[in-house]
Formats: sequence, structure tokens, C-alpha cells
Amino acid sequence: MAGQSGDNADPTDSGYYKAKYQSLEDLPSVGPATASKLREIGLKTVESIAMATNAELTAAGLGEETAAKIIEAARKSIAITFVRGDELVELRKQIKRLTTGCPSLDSLLKGGLETQSLTEFYGEFGTGKSQVCHQLCVTVQLPEAQGGLEGGALYIDTENTFRPERIQQMARRFGLDPMEALKKIIFAEAYTSEHQMFLLDNADEVIKENNVRLIIVDSLTSHFRSEYLGWEMLANRQQLLNKHMHKLMRLSRAFNTVAAITNQVMAQPDAFFTKGVVPVGGHIVGHMSHSRIFLRKGRGNIRVAKLTVSPSLPEGEVPIRITEQGIESDEEI
Ligand code: GTP
Ligand code: MG
Repeated sequence: MAGQSGDNADPTDSGYYKAKYQSLEDLPSVGPATASKLREIGLKTVESIAMATNAELTAAGLGEETAAKIIEAARKSIAITFVRGDELVELRKQIKRLTTGCPSLDSLLKGGLETQSLTEFYGEFGTGKSQVCHQLCVTVQLPEAQGGLEGGALYIDTENTFRPERIQQMARRFGLDPMEALKKIIFAEAYTSEHQMFLLDNADEVIKENNVRLIIVDSLTSHFRSEYLGWEMLANRQQLLNKHMHKLMRLSRAFNTVAAITNQVMAQPDAFFTKGVVPVGGHIVGHMSHSRIFLRKGRGNIRVAKLTVSPSLPEGEVPIRITEQGIESDEEI
């Protein structure tokens, strides 16, 4: 494989690529001092160095040449250099789908959420965004034969809505031991947008060590929205959101994980006479989310999930139901 180091690519490995170098110190030109500088800026694994930019490394005090050399070695080690089209097919075979545990939602998504990409759930309050995230934390633990990824989850919660009891309820439904299921979920509450970014910037080691195959940011935008008010702060906010989403994207690629984010909606600014709502975050969030699912309320506990953006699937909508069991299919809209 072009740019690939020998026989290191093992499709059964939980990561996207199996790195030739295991730890930072294994990389050429990285001694203990450089390794500690890299760890300080949150780059603790070879995978994350491969996804880093020269500017990130020079900002941490490394010389231009050393930075370039280290990144190149890391990239070669995990095979992200040039690949031929047929090799790309092989790499894309490593993309997996994670079941939502809800047949109608899975049928909308042709099997579930893809690894190596960002899936956004957006909608008004109470439409089930966090409930879907809880359920994914359980289904990710299931065997692949049942649509799971046999891994753990990382849950970054910005609104203090993560409920371990709810996970336990859902775990029982899927035949998992409730306590064991909780042990496979790494939870972090983000207090500010800066803290939220810090958590993700420092997540690589946690992801690797815990075989995390699902990263959730619930909600992506709430802190940014409440902290950056007014037009004069908008450019700054969008720049930070962009950086944050890039980081999420890079983690999702490097570790072959599903990344799910939730997002609120706001009234469409230019639609005076319609009841239109649009997701928060504008073009940045829109362009970075590969798939977008809009959730809206139906009667009672019914919700409607609509696939509004997908790289390969047609638009469509399905009814779902929020019950004691979690998210289930429903026949009526
Ligand atoms: P915001 O975060 O406020 O924007 O909303 P959200 O879209 O994340 O909503 P969430 O996923 O929290 O969904 C809340 C809905 O799920 C409410 O209608 C609850 O009634 C329902 N719900 C939450 N927990 C349970 C439960 O244990 N049993 C049942 N039957 N319903 C539940
Ligand atoms: Mg929520």
C-alpha cells in the first residue's frame, strides 16, 4: 500500500489503522522532553500526532523541521499518506455501522451510524436527542453480529442530562449487565465551551485505552451559544466551533469511532411567515456534519426522525417512540 508501513494494517484492529509506533517515544526525534511537550498539548498517541498540524507542534515549542518530521513519521506509521483508489476501497471497508437499537431509525440510516464520520441529531427540547445518545452508549457495546462495535463510549455532557439509571434500563433491554454496561461508558461533564474543547483535546489516550468506539458531545453548541452573544462575537464562536468539530472528526477517523453530536434549533431568521427552525451553528456545523437527523415531536411519546443530510442515503423520515425501554420503532406518525 502506498505510504503504508509493511503489513501493519490489520482490519480487525479496533483503530482505523494499526500504528507501527506504539508510543510517542517510539517516533524518531521524540525523546522524553519532546514527548512531554506533546502530551501537554493533548497529543498523547501516535494516532493524534498523525492528525495534528505543524502549527500545533511549533506552538508547543518544537522547531519547524522537527515538527514536520515527527508528523510525517506518525502519518507513515498509520498509513495516512497517498493511497491509490483501490486501496481507498480497502480502507473504507473498515468503516462500520452502529445500530441505534431502533429498527425504524436503522432503516432510515441503512443499518446505523457510520464510523469515521459525524452524525448530528438536532431538534427542539424534549425531542429525544439525549435519549438516542444514551441508547447508542449501550448498543455500541453489543457484539458486531447484533450491530454493535464491541467497544465503549465517551460521553461529553454539557447540559447535565446524562442519567446512569437510564443506561441501566436500556442495558437490560439489550441483554447486557447494567453495571458492566456503565463501566464501559466514560463520562465527562463540560462546564464551559473552553472546558468542552479541553476535554476533547485530551481524549485520545482515554479513547485508546478504553477501546472507545463512540464519542458523544451532547450538546455540541449549547455553551458556545450562551457564551458568545451578539454579532461581534459570532466570528470568534464559529472559529472555535470549527476547531472543535475538526478535532472530533480527527478522533473519529484515527480511532474508527462513531461521533454523534446533538444540536439545538432556533427560529429561522429570515422566515417571518413560516414556523421554520434551523440548527444552531450555521454553515460550520452544517458542513462538518456528514449526516444530519432532525427530530420533531409527534403525539404523546412519538417522535419523527427525518434524515435531512446524508452523503449517500436518500432523505426520508420514520416514526420512533420514547418508552421505558428506550427508543423504539413506531408505526404511526
Ligand atoms: P434537550 O436536551 O432539552 O434539547 O432535549 P432532548 O432532545 O435531548 O430530549 P431528551 O432526549 O432528553 O428527551 C426527553 C424525552 O424523553 C421526554 O419527553 C421524556 O419524557 C422522555 N424520557 C426520558 N426518560 C424517559 C424514561 O425513562 N421513560 C420514558 N418513558 N420516557 C423518558
Ligand atoms: Mg438533551
